[in-house]
Amino acid sequence: MSAKIHIIYQKATLLTLFFTIIMQISRIYFVPLHANSKIKTKKHMGKVILTGDRPTGKLHLGHYVGSLRRRVQLQNQGDFDRMFVFMADVQALTDNADNPEKIRQNIIEVALDYLAAGLDPAKCTLFIQSQIPELAELTTYLMNLVSVSRVQRNPTVKTEVKMRGFEGESIPLGFFCYPVSQAADITLFKATTVPAGEDQEPMLEVTRELVRRFNQIYAPVLVEPNIMLPENLTARRLPGTDGKEKMSKSLGNCIYLSDTAEDVWQKVRSMYTDPEHVNLNDPGHVEGNAVFTYLDAFSTDEDFKNFLPEYQNLDELKDHYRRGGLGDMKCKKFLNQVINQFLEPMRQRRAEFEKDIPEIYNILKKGTEQAREVGAQTMDEVRKAMRIDYFNDAELIRQQAERFAK
Ligand code: TRP
Repeated sequence: MSAKIHIIYQKATLLTLFFTIIMQISRIYFVPLHANSKIKTKKHMGKVILTGDRPTGKLHLGHYVGSLRRRVQLQNQGDFDRMFVFMADVQALTDNADNPEKIRQNIIEVALDYLAAGLDPAKCTLFIQSQIPELAELTTYLMNLVSVSRVQRNPTVKTEVKMRGFEGESIPLGFFCYPVSQAADITLFKATTVPAGEDQEPMLEVTRELVRRFNQIYAPVLVEPNIMLPENLTARRLPGTDGKEKMSKSLGNCIYLSDTAEDVWQKVRSMYTDPEHVNLNDPGHVEGNAVFTYLDAFSTDEDFKNFLPEYQNLDELKDHYRRGGLGDMKCKKFLNQVINQFLEPMRQRRAEFEKDIPEIYNILKKGTEQAREVGAQTMDEVRKAMRIDYFNDAELIRQQAERFAK
């Protein structure tokens, strides 16, 4: 029996060796063919992933479960033609015009968070929005294709206007137009797939409308994108440690990816749970209980095996909590372990990257140059479609010459 397996194994090894040799030979003789087939297989033909963050602060767990975790997985699966991740500093300036220094400081924080989380500049293009002038150019033309009232109805813009106290007369025009600028971010790179949280869906809707308008009026140049929401439902909008609707810097309820283990424990320890769960034996509620929402978003059955083997999985833990007899502290200790387990490798990577900050700017510069090449190509097509590429339009020049010669 084991001899048989051994022979099969040997055969398999030989076969692998044989194929490796063939591959090597074909690589020498068919370089262009091989290189091409590597970039475009049928499965991911034309798949372009793009997403970004406003560099207004360090990234937190909400960013991580809402988008960053997925991005790293996508990047490593490699099932795409191109992947872009960028820092939306132009968008950040739309409501921070008086504080550019804040954005400037946070570009590097977000870049470090990206790299620490596992984004790899060899696999995906990292860039800075403001350094791509083609984005501003495309925004200008797209603005003609959407009405003021359409943007006014955008629920995300509405919420943000309220949150920033911009009601009445004080909405900056640039801020108001940011959904159009975001549509340019997406379409300049012909992105098909935008991994983002639920709150970005209204932006994607506007983008698709703009693409349809543009393509219908001019020529089919732009591509309609789809949002890719987190699979995990609770991850789509992670509440803050205070149990409030959203984790957000301005609410001061964040756990940052760069927090130390001690920071994390302090925050988890004082997390909002169930105000009616006063004594150990009181029955508890898991709905609206931030600790359980976080466990929903982060914990796996594996974590139970490693840190809390008395329970098979989260359902069992929840049942016990509901029945009564399970203390908040025990749940918090477990959550702390779960969170620190994936933050620890990030902290270590971050510390490595922090040793060479000029190199981080270098990475961003290279990525920006690569992104600009793609953007310039699309803008050529856009100008051509809009018939405003006057100087490259030999036919136009010839026609006009003829017209005036008469
Ligand atoms: N609006 C996004 C945020 O608030 C950032 C962003 C700007 C973005 N442009 C984008 C996200 C394009 C996805 C695609 O974080």
